Amino acid sequence: MLFRNLWRAALTAAATIAASALADDAANPTGQSTFISPDGTLAFAFTVPDNGNTDIYFSLRVSTDRSWGAVGLGSDDMPGALFLILYRSKNNHDNVTFSPRLAYGNYEPKYYPDLKFEVLDGTGVQDGFMTFNAVCHEHCRSWPSGGTSKGYIDVSSPNQQAIYALGGKESFSDDEVDANLKMHSEHGTFTIDMKRTQGRADLPVLTKDSVSEGTTLNSRSTGNFDWKAAAHAAFMVFSFMLLIPTGAILIRIEKLAKFHKFNQTFALCLVLAGFAFGILTSFNYQRSRGFHSLHQVLGFLVILLMFVQLAAGVLHHLKWRKTKQPTTFGKIHLWNGRIVMILGAANGYIGFGFALDRKYALIVLGIVFVLVMCALGYIIWGAKRQMPRRQQGPSGFEGLNHSYQQQHPEPWRSTSYSATVTAAPAYPHDPPPGYEAPSAQIGLQNATSWKGNTPGGRDSYEDEPLNLGSSQKPREFT
Ligand SMILES: *[C@@H]1O[C@H](CO)[C@@H](O)[C@H](O)[C@H]1NC(C)=O
Repeated sequence: MLFRNLWRAALTAAATIAASALADDAANPTGQSTFISPDGTLAFAFTVPDNGNTDIYFSLRVSTDRSWGAVGLGSDDMPGALFLILYRSKNNHDNVTFSPRLAYGNYEPKYYPDLKFEVLDGTGVQDGFMTFNAVCHEHCRSWPSGGTSKGYIDVSSPNQQAIYALGGKESFSDDEVDANLKMHSEHGTFTIDMKRTQGRADLPVLTKDSVSEGTTLNSRSTGNFDWKAAAHAAFMVFSFMLLIPTGAILIRIEKLAKFHKFNQTFALCLVLAGFAFGILTSFNYQRSRGFHSLHQVLGFLVILLMFVQLAAGVLHHLKWRKTKQPTTFGKIHLWNGRIVMILGAANGYIGFGFALDRKYALIVLGIVFVLVMCALGYIIWGAKRQMPRRQQGPSGFEGLNHSYQQQHPEPWRSTSYSATVTAAPAYPHDPPPGYEAPSAQIGLQNATSWKGNTPGGRDSYEDEPLNLGSSQKPREFT
């Protein structure tokens, strides 16, 4: 009894296995080699027709979760491989764009227009997969080797080298065959038994039940990202959005002005490090390998202007130390600094688009918004503070001087030495243009007492008039 039941169970199990084996055969015909990436997001199937020409049939399938997917033939690394790349079409979201490319190094492959192929049925987007079926007539068995020892596949080889790669998990679509791509987030190597696929001229079959057969996964690497590009962005955003504006503020604060040069020199060093990473990143992508895109040209310009900025700052300082007068270098430094900040921010915005990461450009916009708001606040605040002071009569001024400084501690103007200069309000520097006349007219005090007050210990660039607005506008208020 027990044995009979066991026997029956065994028969049932055998029948089940046989049935599933049959099903597998339908999804995995023996005349093809099939590669399924470990998590199933990429599949590649391959047959070689025995008809004496250079055709090959292939089917490439990539999950729509991925921005793009690719198989590289003829190599176990990028240089010299023929890349069959697939991404979604933009015009017709139910279709795909197939992009054959070549690369001779570890960088984004370049579109290879010489491949002659015929698109076959089943190509398109279904059930969460992009599928491309084709018979390739020319240049799929050999292609320009570009000085490498690669450049071909041996269709009689039982273990032909191949690689695969998957773009990041984000939506991406483009109709151009040479679309700009981001770096892969996963890649691996495998071998294809090509010999076993030789036979009838027919398209390989790929279904959701397909399994790897006639192929061997040799290596897999996940979590790839372009850390050089990330370092470039991090260094630049930190420098241009935080350090450099901070330095511009420091120079306006009497007690902290001496840190301006350290801060900005440090920022320049970080920018140069970021620049180096930017150069290294540039070699990775077709769009940047020529070094003539807007982002790159602007970047070179900003770096150049930063050296102008450094030179103007140093020259101004040396001259100012002798004369205690505003200098032309100071003016250049002021305006060049503003241009550097504006171009730097603009180039950050452009750069994220260039990296196909437009969403992060919003961070740049956000920070710029905050900075502009701060600058506006500074100007408005400065203008408001200006008003009562201009309206003070000459008689009351001396007496008010002390309390005035208490009540109006404009930090970038308050001075440690003003106690020793009785008649002086807290203006260490020369009057801005147009200032003397009105102050003389209302008799606030005579102009010379403004002029002579450059302090000995003051070691900054701030003798240049504050052009942020407030001190330029006294006439409006008199
Ligand atoms: C789908 O795309 C392929 C090439 O990528 C093209 O040959 C084919 O005509 C397209 N099909 C449709 C319906 O647009």
